[in-house]
Amino acid sequence: MISIIGSGRVGASIAFLCVSNALDDVLLINRTKSKAIGESLDIANAIPSTSKFSIHGTDDYSQLTGSDIIVITASDKVYSKNRTENMMSQVIMIKEIAKKIKQYCPSAIILLVSNPLDILTYFFQKETGFPRFKVIGVASSLDSSRFRYFISEKFSVPQASVTNALVLGEHGDSMVPIFSGVYVNGNSLLSLIDNRDPITNDVRNYWKTLRNYKSRSQLGIAKNTYDVINTIINAKELLIPASVVLEGEYGENNVAMGVPVKINQNGISEIQKIELDGVESALLKESSNIISNYINYIKINSK
Ligand code: 2OP
Repeated sequence: MISIIGSGRVGASIAFLCVSNALDDVLLINRTKSKAIGESLDIANAIPSTSKFSIHGTDDYSQLTGSDIIVITASDKVYSKNRTENMMSQVIMIKEIAKKIKQYCPSAIILLVSNPLDILTYFFQKETGFPRFKVIGVASSLDSSRFRYFISEKFSVPQASVTNALVLGEHGDSMVPIFSGVYVNGNSLLSLIDNRDPITNDVRNYWKTLRNYKSRSQLGIAKNTYDVINTIINAKELLIPASVVLEGEYGENNVAMGVPVKINQNGISEIQKIELDGVESALLKESSNIISNYINYIKINSK
């Protein structure tokens, strides 16, 4: 069973993809029970006639029992300027959710989607003590989709012509697009541009640009999360950047941030070490310091 905590636009879109592709049974949990039931009634009409699976909505966490995967999309408040704006209340929320998941479903694989993504991934793992490779923050793959999109638009080529467009680090203002590994129709991206800043700024500000036209991003993150769920349920293999608590990888400890990982049916199977150039290594260090500072601030101020 796939359980999704938070049945707003993102949670409902993930549920829709799982149900319409007949992945597994889906449970939608929302603090407002009627919202979870309403979304599940709508999505139930997308169950293929050949599917063995169904969807239900509830506000009762005890129904999490037996979930293989739990996706957390819940948000306490909407932020407008920065993903860290409501970090104190989001951390309180994630700790409460973590306690319930630990009580009802201690062996599930957890996918975090709520913001601030890296901070919540860190505190969820610390609160539960779950194996760090079973607590995955999904966002850097979304940032990478945006990086790939801008490169394809800039050179007027299909996205299939762009390889290895990765974004690492914070899912936030300090995220780090990795230009040095990208190829466009077989040519190194760095040989085609003379300044990394315009694309970097476009990728970092994508969510704000989108909000000039639509209330909030929804479908891109839903598809990126669905791909991870599909990998786990169908025992496939997926190489993406995702947030995970680091224990020495990329020289970092006591922080979660986006790094390249391999995902299989058990969660993350390994963190991959990739080559970065000097600019990228320095920016990644800066990004991890920014996340660490937030984590330390929260620890000091929530005592
Ligand atoms: C996004 O990047 C807001 O984190 C969300 O679209």
